Amino acid sequence: MTDTSNKQLSNVEFKELQDFIYQKSGMFFPLSRKNYIEQKVLKRIATLKYENFREYMNILKNELIRTEIINLFNEITVNETFFFRDIPQLEVLEKHVFPEAVSSGRKFLNILSAGCSSGEEAYTISIILKEKFPQLSYNITGIDISDLVIAKAIRGEYTEYAVRFVPKPYLKKYFTSIDGGVYKFQDQFKNNIRFQKMNLMEFDTAPFGSTFDLIFCRYVLIYFDKDSKQKVINSFYSKIASNGYLILGNSESLFSISSDFKMLHFPSAIIYNRR
Ligand SMILES: C[S@@+](CC[C@H](N)C(=O)[O-])C[C@H]1O[C@@H](n2cnc3c(N)ncnc32)[C@H](O)[C@@H]1O
Repeated sequence: MTDTSNKQLSNVEFKELQDFIYQKSGMFFPLSRKNYIEQKVLKRIATLKYENFREYMNILKNELIRTEIINLFNEITVNETFFFRDIPQLEVLEKHVFPEAVSSGRKFLNILSAGCSSGEEAYTISIILKEKFPQLSYNITGIDISDLVIAKAIRGEYTEYAVRFVPKPYLKKYFTSIDGGVYKFQDQFKNNIRFQKMNLMEFDTAPFGSTFDLIFCRYVLIYFDKDSKQKVINSFYSKIASNGYLILGNSESLFSISSDFKMLHFPSAIIYNRR
């Protein structure tokens, strides 16, 4: 077996990898994250029993093993997520966005969870809608570049840690507790939620039939540089309903990225509205 444990990438090799990842995914890993990427890539090289980085890059660039790029993305993406993340932001949905939809006579919402990771965000939105706005029906589509997390989202099995902020009555109602501290989101509540592997850099050409009323893209674009952020936000703009909402992570903003969305300030959070 090839021993890559104590090898390092040169700065030139890192740059080549950095460019490749950026072109394929929009994610930009600066030099300060070299160690992180290096560990992940050396692990892939060791798993595949390749001799060196050059051999690995040749496989990637020439798509000699077409699945390897997927394995690489599965390794390098940061998939941290949990149920009921950013409660103040969720309160804005509960107190403003969903009530406004109801009072304007809406019966149905089409929702996108972009960079959905293992599905916690999509399932959280569905719990809120079911509990607080039963008069609204909805579809939620979760997309992510990593097929590992998409598989997990479809399975819907979570650790105690992932469900730690789920209010107890909802935990009891929506999840089945399996041995070993696993909580399974019940199939009976999954009907209108679907997940699919998709690269946000290709979102503009994705064949979605109808526009989205709400697009969640929380803690995804933090890994993108300005150009790829603009590309993704422009593609959201073309696929969001007029007056639709865009919800980013609470540390993220569209400042210097796009003026197509109006920033709405609430005491607890900021969300964006299509102009
Ligand atoms: C930190 S998680 C955020 C999950 C969830 N939105 C939340 O706020 O809890 C970021 C996710 O974005 C995904 N991602 C990164 N680049 C992507 C791309 N180009 N296309 C689709 N998903 C991407 C990652 O795989 C990861 O699962």
